[in-house]
Amino acid sequence: MIGLPHRSELVRGKDLVEVRRTKPRIRRIEHRGHTFVIKDVAHCTLLFRLFGRWWLRRELAVYDRIGALDGIPLCFGLLDRNALLLSHLDGEVVRRESTRLQAADYFVELRRLVARLHGRGVVHLDLGHRRNVLVLRDGRPAIVDFASALSVARVPILGWLGRRIDAYSIARLERRYGKRRGQDRQ
Ligand SMILES: Nc1ncnc2c1ncn2[C@@H]1O[C@H](COP(=O)(O)OP(=O)(O)O)[C@@H](O)[C@H]1O
Ligand SMILES: [Mg+2]
Repeated sequence: MIGLPHRSELVRGKDLVEVRRTKPRIRRIEHRGHTFVIKDVAHCTLLFRLFGRWWLRRELAVYDRIGALDGIPLCFGLLDRNALLLSHLDGEVVRRESTRLQAADYFVELRRLVARLHGRGVVHLDLGHRRNVLVLRDGRPAIVDFASALSVARVPILGWLGRRIDAYSIARLERRYGKRRGQDRQ
């Protein structure tokens, strides 16, 4: 059983993105040998905090629906009503300079991961944003940020549409960051 961090420890966390009062604060924190990511709305203005709490509960429901899946953070639930606790995935966001993206199977694996996600009745809907797609240390793909994701098991038409949006987003990422045509011959 993993011991979970407490809010009082968050001061030791490291911000992963610029802190704004209109967005969740994303922090990485080490706790008892494990690395967590905390998505926190406690610092937000009242309106964004109230809206953010509801949004975090939505995101939690999506993680519950997905369960454990390689390449997707594990969700440990809410730390308190303002913060969601996730496992940290050790990698970097998709960047043009990343040679790992040039590996023949990165996008094959990414499509496989998204297909598994879809198989669990969830569409992500924000894969076009390169910061939501990671390259792990061993070169495998991972996906974060389920704030825009939807559970679509009971709404087939939404599922159909969402799967197409995800597929389109990945194709666009691959065109921008994947292996260039003719690169093999150089
Ligand atoms: N579980 C995680 N493991 C590793 N990095 C993460 C994790 N969750 C978020 N990040 C990093 O933090 C960034 C912001 O998190 P995200 O959930 O996308 O929030 P937002 O898009 O609202 O800023 C991501 O682009 C990613 O680089
Ligand atoms: Mg994001």
